[in-house]
Amino acid sequence: MSDGEPALEIEHLSTLRGRVQVLWDVSLRVERGETVAIVGPNGAGKTTLVGSITGLIPPKAGRVRIGGADVTGLSPERLATRGVALVPERRGIFAPLTVRENLQMGAYARRAPRAVLAADLEGVFELFPALRRYRDTIAGSLSGGEQQMVAIGRALMAKPDLLLLDEPSLGLAPKVRAENFGALARLAERGVTIVLVEQNLRLAARICSRAYLMQRGRIVGTETADELARSARSVYLAARP
Ligand SMILES: Nc1ncnc2c1ncn2[C@@H]1O[C@H](COP(=O)(O)OP(=O)(O)O)[C@@H](O)[C@H]1O
Ligand SMILES: [Mg+2]
Repeated sequence: MSDGEPALEIEHLSTLRGRVQVLWDVSLRVERGETVAIVGPNGAGKTTLVGSITGLIPPKAGRVRIGGADVTGLSPERLATRGVALVPERRGIFAPLTVRENLQMGAYARRAPRAVLAADLEGVFELFPALRRYRDTIAGSLSGGEQQMVAIGRALMAKPDLLLLDEPSLGLAPKVRAENFGALARLAERGVTIVLVEQNLRLAARICSRAYLMQRGRIVGTETADELARSARSVYLAARP
């Protein structure tokens, strides 16, 4: 990334799923080091937007820029080499593999020396102490919260400049959810740019400085963290058919 350019810039993005247009003229901008939420009800197009940023669902029109460079339509693998890491909806870990193997897969594209990878693995265990004990355990046997830690840890092993998370709180108990968001807050303090897709607005407000509101495939507004914590419920009510 070059200095001064936003971490992520999206301009007039439109995306189809099959023959149905899901995203309509979506534009947004995230500066380096910012932690920004994308919130909205089920079906608003949040996962489609994340897919269009990470190359999983190439857009029909519009541009995606990372650090000023046009990356529209690049594959997820190419995006990874440009410092973009995704923690997908429903975690997407490799259930039959161990925790350590899952984490190591996150570093696959980096071709870093063994000693560096070992140090990075240690960094993940420091962030999520619960995982250290389970390093040789099959990931699929862990609790939902621990699997979420593995998914975040795997993304971090790619040493991302930009971390995208798609509903990391989904289905988790409050205690482990709070633990995971504490870890995200520490990452934000270290300067990792975070784009967080979330339906839990209070949680989003805890780590994000502002939010884009999505409804029916469009950005319909922005809010500060304070506004998000207080008022964004209206977005959900308004979205009901
Ligand atoms: N694989 C798919 N094929 C066709 N349509 C899809 C697919 N996945 C999602 N959609 C549709 O796209 C819209 C947005 O979905 P999605 O991006 O998953 O929203 P969100 O993540 O905000 O819940 C919904 O209307 C959904 O039905
Ligand atoms: Mg979704």
